[in-house]
Formats: sequence, structure tokens, C-alpha cells
Amino acid sequence: MASITLNNLVKKYGDGFPAVNDISIDIADGEFIILVGPSGCGKSTLLRMIVGLEDITDGDLLIDGKRVNDKAPRERNLAMVFQNYALYPHLTVYENIAFPLRLAKGKHSEEQVDKLVTEAASTLELTDHLQRKPANLSGGQRQRVAMGRAIVRQADAFLFDEPLSNLDAKLRGQMRSEISQMQRRLGVTSVYVTHDQTEAMTLGDRVAVLKKGELQQIASPRELYEQPINLFVAGFIGSPSMNFLPATVEGNTLKTVLGDLAITPEKAAKAAGKRVVLVGVRPEFFEDAKLVEDSKRGHGSTFTASLTHTEWLGNEQYGYITFDPAPEVRELLNNLARDMDADELRPQIVVTLDAASRIRGGREAEIWLDTRKLHLFDPETGENLTRDAAAGAALTEEANEERAEEIANAQGHSPQDSDRSRQGSASESPDSAEAPRSAGSADAGSAGGATAAGGGKHTAG
Ligand SMILES: Nc1ncnc2c1ncn2[C@@H]1O[C@H](COP(=O)(O)OP(=O)(O)OP(=O)(O)O)[C@@H](O)[C@H]1O
Ligand SMILES: [Mg+2]
Repeated sequence: MASITLNNLVKKYGDGFPAVNDISIDIADGEFIILVGPSGCGKSTLLRMIVGLEDITDGDLLIDGKRVNDKAPRERNLAMVFQNYALYPHLTVYENIAFPLRLAKGKHSEEQVDKLVTEAASTLELTDHLQRKPANLSGGQRQRVAMGRAIVRQADAFLFDEPLSNLDAKLRGQMRSEISQMQRRLGVTSVYVTHDQTEAMTLGDRVAVLKKGELQQIASPRELYEQPINLFVAGFIGSPSMNFLPATVEGNTLKTVLGDLAITPEKAAKAAGKRVVLVGVRPEFFEDAKLVEDSKRGHGSTFTASLTHTEWLGNEQYGYITFDPAPEVRELLNNLARDMDADELRPQIVVTLDAASRIRGGREAEIWLDTRKLHLFDPETGENLTRDAAAGAALTEEANEERAEEIANAQGHSPQDSDRSRQGSASESPDSAEAPRSAGSADAGSAGGATAAGGGKHTAG
């Protein structure tokens, strides 16, 4: 296991195009980091730079504090899990998992190979399938075999490039939770690329949102959702997307197509000097005014609108309100949509209503809006004027604590033990710890070091 540090990484391809532009990220030991963004934003390039398949034009890449820019992929001791698992159809599951060990000819005794494969298979619940061929396995089981390969290598980190994008929606959901649990059980540092915001939100300890080669924001899913740094992150994260409404600011009032919205003087002050702002409203900030408790009503504004239609989903419903924006606002929304890789941002507001609401399309209805939660964006720069950085940081801090606890639980230790259990799990026993050291490979130094420290603590404890 290892920490990975990206310092001002730049990748320029032959034509001088900066596919990755000055990206810095500190990935902690055992952390699950997601790189997310629309097609072409540089996710795969960044991952390939980490693993060593792509040269680094500028900046430094450190693994456990050591600069590895010039090291070959195999010297970095990272395991890449690809989208098509590239299993060998003629080999059994056992031999597929053992493959990387066989490749390092003579490095591992038959006994060591058997031990590593058996352990990995048991972690992955593949023990009963070891003698079968990949063709006879389910998609999920095949994915696990591919992970088994990464596990026996005792890699310092796992790197995934859209591993689930070939699967159907149901299997994707299933595999998502398998990968998540596996990552916790192994406590292995992981970097995972996806363009799917749901995958990003459900898997990541922290999510790095990229746009055109630049890092927009890196934070826990919750911080991204509640305190997005700009229009792009606000629009990209969350489904259905945040609604953006043009508004003029007059004192403590926002004049919008929905009517006047009262905001606090503090919020209004953040928009001081701006005549027009974009108001960001998540669908769930709305409710059928009839169903809002009196105690809550005062925290928002009520307005009348005619919904075009509603969609009933069982636990809630979506309602749609269309509006006719000024041409310059329409242009702005279209640009934003292009950035996000969407067709267009329709001048439409999506509201979530309680499942019990009787509001239906075509009729006027009273809708309530929780104005406490609005964000105001600068339409020119996209900056979130009302972002509360401290509240956001607290959310990410919370997520960090949860991670330590989850890893500890998954590994059957108390949270205080998680550090040493993670180090220890790099190689469960003294035998396997000997393997890389006696072989004298390039990575033996770091792997041996981590194990020695873990082992020392174990005997002490
Ligand atoms: N070998 C290459 N030569 C030149 N330009 C490249 C090369 N590979 C990628 N690029 C460019 O670098 C940018 C980033 O590409 P990258 O593959 O990293 O994007 P991505 O975020 O992984 O996209 P996707 O979601 O479509 O996989 C793109 O604009 C792409 O055209
Ligand atoms: Mg890609």
C-alpha cells in the first residue's frame, strides 16, 4: 500500500495539446480516489501517467514520497485493472490469477504461488471456481478474477479505467458494490476513472472533477454536492442536475422567472455588485407547498407555477417547469451544457415532489422553495459566490474519518488499529513478506519497508 502524490502534472501530446494541465492531488494510503469528467477531459491520460504508460511532460509523481517519473511501469508496482479483463480463456481461474507470478519466472516457489492464489481466491470468494474456465463465469466473477491478478502481485495501488462501462446497468450496480467492499477489505490505495457521476459519488472517498485537462475541485462526494466550487461541478454532480435560474439581485430579493425569492442579507452580500446572477437550485429544494410543514415554510418562498408534466417514481415524483430565458442566458446555458458533454441544458426546472403530492401537469400549482440552500453563481466566471468553504471542508473531514472506520470494520479491527492492519495486510504473513525481498526486485525496498514496520507493530501489539 502506498500514498501517491501528483505535483503540478502536465501532459502535452505531440501536437502540443495539454491533455493534463497542472494537476496536483495528494492521495493518502488506502484512499479510494475517483477521477471523473466528460469525455476528453484527460482522465485516462492522468491514470496512464501514474501507472507509467505515458511520459510526464512536466511536474513530479511520487509514490510513498519517492519520485518515480523516470521509473518503468513494472518498477512502480501498481496494478492496472482494465475494462476488458483480458483473461486467458484456455487457462483455469487458478492459472489466470497466478499469471503475473508465473511471468516473473523463478521469483516465486510453487508453494508461494499456491498460497497467494488461494488467499486471493478466498478474499474474492472464488475458491469454488478455481478449476473453472473464464467462459463459464458470470461477468462479476470474471471481474473478480481480474482483481485477483492485481491482488497476488501485492501491488501498492490499484488503478481502474472505466472497468464497468461494458456491463449492463444491473450488473454495474452489483460490481460497484463489490469493488467498494473489496477496496475496504484490502485497504488498498485505488484510483478509479469514470465519466459516470453516480459511480463517482458512490465509490469515492474523494472525487476529483476534471474539465479540459484541469482539476476543478477535489472533495468528498458530499462536499462536491453541497458546496460545489463552480457552475461546472454544480451541474456535473447530481442527478437530476442542479437547476440554474437567471436572477437580478435587488437588496435581499432575487427576481426570477419563478417570482421573487427572499434571501438572507449575508447571501445577498456575496452577490454585491453583480446585477445578474445564476441561482443554483437542486430539485429536492422544492416541494408541493401544501405538504410543507408550517415550521419549515418560513425558511423558503412560495410561488405559483404551471408544470408541463409530472413523473411518478413510487417514492417521489419529478415535476417539470419550462421557462423562456433571455437570449444571452440561453447562450450561457448552452455553453455550460457543451462543457458538460450534454446535448443542451433545456430552459427547464426539475422539481422533486413528495410521492403524495396531487400536483399534475397543465394546472397551476403552489410550489415551495427552500431558499436557505440556494447557491448563487457568477454567470461570467462560473464561480460559486456563496460557497461555504469551511462547511465543505468539514464534510470532507467527516468522510476521511468514515474511511478509517470502514476499513477497520471491513478488516475486523477497531479504527485505531486501521493503520497497522493496513500495513500488515500488504503481506499477511512473514513468508509472503520474504518473497519480494529475497527476490531483490526494484520495489523490494518500499514493500519490504512497509511490511517490516507493520510486522514490528504486530509483534509489539
Ligand atoms: N495519443 C494521443 N495523442 C494526441 N492526443 C491525445 C492522445 N491521447 C489522448 N489525446 C487527447 O488528450 C485529451 C484527453 O484524452 P483522454 O483519453 O485522457 O480523455 P478521457 O477523459 O479519458 O476521455 P474518455 O472519457 O473519452 O475516455 C483528449 O483531448 C484527446 O484527444
Ligand atoms: Mg478515457
